[in-house]
Amino acid sequence: MRSDRPVALVAAFVVALTINLSPAVTADEQVSPAQRAARAAAAEFGGTLTRTLTSAMAQGGPVAAINVCSAKAPRIADFIAAKHGVNVSRTSRRYRNPGNAPESWQQEVLEAWQASLGQGTDPATLEYFDGEAATGYRYMKPIMTQTLCLSCHGTNLDPAVSEAIRALYPNDLARGYSVGELRGAFVVTGLPGATQSNSGERMP
Ligand code: HEC
Repeated sequence: MRSDRPVALVAAFVVALTINLSPAVTADEQVSPAQRAARAAAAEFGGTLTRTLTSAMAQGGPVAAINVCSAKAPRIADFIAAKHGVNVSRTSRRYRNPGNAPESWQQEVLEAWQASLGQGTDPATLEYFDGEAATGYRYMKPIMTQTLCLSCHGTNLDPAVSEAIRALYPNDLARGYSVGELRGAFVVTGLPGATQSNSGERMP
């Protein structure tokens, strides 16, 4: 596991990104193909999840929609992963599914972001990209809490929702969030190296 990167280094990197990558969409020529591939995979994963969740909530309400997050989210992740030739997942410091618990490098990024957000940083400017080909590229993008999320991640959940979640996730930590809070992150790993991009783009 590539998790022994020093905290200070990661924190410095994240701070550097915070400063240099604002707004989130930096001039494209400064962004490597691997980072662009990661952004595309994370954005499609997030967009597909939100669309699927929104329509499930509209059709069957939050209890029915739990299935989208528990059963469909991993399938959507697999689909996006296969399509983009990378690994995609979600993580959080206060996770619902223990399988989504952060690895130590992810935990460090989440903590750095939390601190940065506490100082008023615009979440849209936060992004982590480790561009060292030797360690394998890896990428994270914050997932912020929106109103849509509160029926399953907020406070005072509807008893039926609360019970259904508790039945599947007895050690659930992912409650009590409010809008605008850092909920977690998309994680993209297994990114193509600079010389073996499968995104159709080549290094100059
Ligand atoms: C209908 C209920 C429901 C709604 C609405 C919902 N979630 Fe979840 N969420 C879940 C469930 C269930 C899981 C556990 C999924 C799993 O087993 O991987 C989960 C997991 C997650 C995870 C992975 C980390 C973890 O805690 O295991 C993130 C991140 C997340 N949700 C963010 C959001 C965001 C952001 C929104 C709003 C846009 C949202 N969720 C809306 C039910 C919901």
